[in-house]
Amino acid sequence: MCGIAGYIGYRDAYPIIINGLKRLEYRGYDSAGLILYDKETIKLVKTKGKVSDLEEKISDEISVSGKIGFGHTRWATHGVPNDVNSHPHYSESENLVIIHNGIIENYDTIKQVLIKRGYTFKSDTDTEVLINLIEEIKNKENVKLGKAVQLALNEVVGAYAITVFDKTKPDEFVVARLGSPIAIGIGKDNKEFFVASDASPFIEYTKNAIYLEDGEMAIIKIGREVRVRNIKSDSLVNPDVLELKLSLEQIEKGGYDHFMLKEIYEQPKAITDTYRGRMLVNEGLIKMAGIDDNLQKFTTANRIIIVACGTSWHAGLVAEYLFEDIARIPVEVEYGSEFRYRNPIITDKDIVIAISQSGETADTLAAIKMAKEKGAFVFGVCNVVGSSIARESDAGAYTHAGPEIGVASTKAFTTQITVLTLIALKLGLAKGSISKSAYHTYLQEMELIPKKVESLLAINDKVEKIGSIYKNATNFLYLGRGFNFPVALEGALKLKEISYIHAEGYPAAEMKHGPIALIDENMPIVVIATNKGHYEKVVSNIQEIKSRNGKIIAVVTEGDTTVKGIADHIIEIPETEEALTPLLTTIPLQLLSYHIAVMLGKNVDQPRNLAKSVTVE
Ligand code: AGP
Repeated sequence: MCGIAGYIGYRDAYPIIINGLKRLEYRGYDSAGLILYDKETIKLVKTKGKVSDLEEKISDEISVSGKIGFGHTRWATHGVPNDVNSHPHYSESENLVIIHNGIIENYDTIKQVLIKRGYTFKSDTDTEVLINLIEEIKNKENVKLGKAVQLALNEVVGAYAITVFDKTKPDEFVVARLGSPIAIGIGKDNKEFFVASDASPFIEYTKNAIYLEDGEMAIIKIGREVRVRNIKSDSLVNPDVLELKLSLEQIEKGGYDHFMLKEIYEQPKAITDTYRGRMLVNEGLIKMAGIDDNLQKFTTANRIIIVACGTSWHAGLVAEYLFEDIARIPVEVEYGSEFRYRNPIITDKDIVIAISQSGETADTLAAIKMAKEKGAFVFGVCNVVGSSIARESDAGAYTHAGPEIGVASTKAFTTQITVLTLIALKLGLAKGSISKSAYHTYLQEMELIPKKVESLLAINDKVEKIGSIYKNATNFLYLGRGFNFPVALEGALKLKEISYIHAEGYPAAEMKHGPIALIDENMPIVVIATNKGHYEKVVSNIQEIKSRNGKIIAVVTEGDTTVKGIADHIIEIPETEEALTPLLTTIPLQLLSYHIAVMLGKNVDQPRNLAKSVTVE
């Protein structure tokens, strides 16, 4: 959601900013803009639309010279997406300029005060209010930009990642963060700096970066070390300079048409990376420091509450089945957005597991903060290393999926399930709720999953063909039971978000309680009917669909003969333990959505209205 890419140093800023914005496109946005500072002048261009529209506008309007500048991709909150509301925003005097991710909740109150003091506003945004507040404080208190930013931020309520530039002090940026990430790339000898929402815009220039913590601001000045301080307490902070592990190759498409397809195909490796070093099959061991160090807490917990959103919530639902079945621990799965406002009953005997690819989802983050305050132990399952949720958690396990850039989560989901399966097995063994032989069988089966995922990727053409038959359907139903009920939800979500076809996921048995009314000869129904766990019941559901002329796309286990005789299309998955089937059944559903969306000409990697990490409520 919204992206920031900026540069200050000795190189031409424009290519760094524009390429940086392109790398941040995955976050989701509806407008883009930038400033370049050159020859004592700020050049500002912004537009509704894509970064490519911005490039076009720039080529018509300005020369791209300048060693200082920053750009922004905006995902509209306050004010419709249009040229005027796009960032950057000037202050009244046009000496100051800002880009902002997040929301200033009390902007209207501040705006009314500023209007009375003679400020005028061109846009409907909260951001323009913030830059004018900074200017008002700077002038009134006669302080430097850094101090003015700090004082202004102490007056606002909300969330932000901001970069501010003052044309009267053109060798520095002021940046600050609360609830929205900001990374500062540090060039050699402090001769150049980069600011961005994540490290992808500057990865080829430097491997050293500071990630600001919530409530911190920094003054970035050419030729000097970055100065970080706490916005509230004003105390200086000694920031950690991290060595980035990210490579350019990881954030490029690598020959695939879309990031989503690349990420679908990366799953065998991503799953292997997730269990590598943790699952020692020959020794019969699962090593996970975050669990090992807190084993007693987990084995004596009253219950586990899982909080997450979207696809990560679906992974949480799979975990509910895993933990209850294998580890015999009661589990509740909650949407972060509901949980945080529900005044839930939480005790210090509860463990909260937060699942999040980005580690930045605002509702999940707020939910764990609240759970911690109420005494719960919080365990984070995140993909992005050093993300807010990872840092806020008491302990955790990274999924090691590598950067996921397609807005539709794919490898994040399967790697989350992998981590959660390892945890369930580890706890099951520790509690004695699973036999040693069953535990060993699971480990052996788990090790075979990447190869089995590969075999499913090999039937891509078949899935594409099925997609071509149903691409013009207006509704889809996805059905599954047990471990595969969450997969049905996930399959439906994937289709909705990238093809804009309405789709619903249901537990197969619930079909009779409503959705069956929708079924006719135009309705494709994807049914997951693997051979273990409620197979006969699902077969009955398939019969019921058939009797109403629905079109059946069945995901079955290899060698199935019963469903073959009834369904219109069969997709076979290799045999495995029932609890591990979500890692396989998901794959063809991802491919099906992908192909339908491509055939419909949709923007698969950046679907309309969606953001990769949802950093606002
Ligand atoms: C997944 O395809 C979606 N784009 C979305 O539901 C996502 O899973 C959700 O926003 C949660 O994100 P997180 O895992 O980064 O917290």
